[in-house]
Amino acid sequence: MPAPRPGPPLVAEKEIAARVAELGRAIARDYADARLVLVGVLQGAIPFVADLMRAVALDVTVDFLRASSYGAGTTSSGTVRLVTDLSIDIADRHVLIVDDIVDTGHTLAALKRTLEARGPVSVRTCVLLDKTGRRQTDVTVDYVGFTIPNVFVVGYGLDYGGLYRNLPYVATLDGI
Ligand code: IMP
Ligand code: MG
Repeated sequence: MPAPRPGPPLVAEKEIAARVAELGRAIARDYADARLVLVGVLQGAIPFVADLMRAVALDVTVDFLRASSYGAGTTSSGTVRLVTDLSIDIADRHVLIVDDIVDTGHTLAALKRTLEARGPVSVRTCVLLDKTGRRQTDVTVDYVGFTIPNVFVVGYGLDYGGLYRNLPYVATLDGI
């Protein structure tokens, strides 16, 4: 059995660019007079944050954290650990958590709880991809790029065994 390889694009580079521009405009409108911090979730959110931050025409701060869910495999377990924390204080700031994908919702729900405990004015969430069919939490996702079916995807930050994050589009895996 050969190793799984990315198939054709599920979300093409041009579709991503157009949607990121729309999200950037919506965020700029919604946070017009706010001191916004974009919090990217490493490593999957790197391309998305890089593109989104340039689409938000506001003075924003950008910071990153790294989360890790206990247990291996392709689904998250419900316990989320902060492996690398933010480098700034988010008290009295508006926070927008930016991640690549929301699947069960455990990662976003836990990150939101953790950051809300630090005294920010608000904590909202933005993901490029939403697998709505798999949700196990009632976490609110405030900005969604694309809703996708329950398939494992790679590219534009998303990996399979550490590979394929650098694809400029989102693809399903062939041979999984
Ligand atoms: P959740 O906690 O189940 O919502 O999962 C969120 C995390 O699982 C994401 O930030 C990704 O790192 C990973 N993940 C979920 N679905 C996929 C996928 O289809 N491809 C790659 N990673 C995924
Ligand atoms: Mg992730």
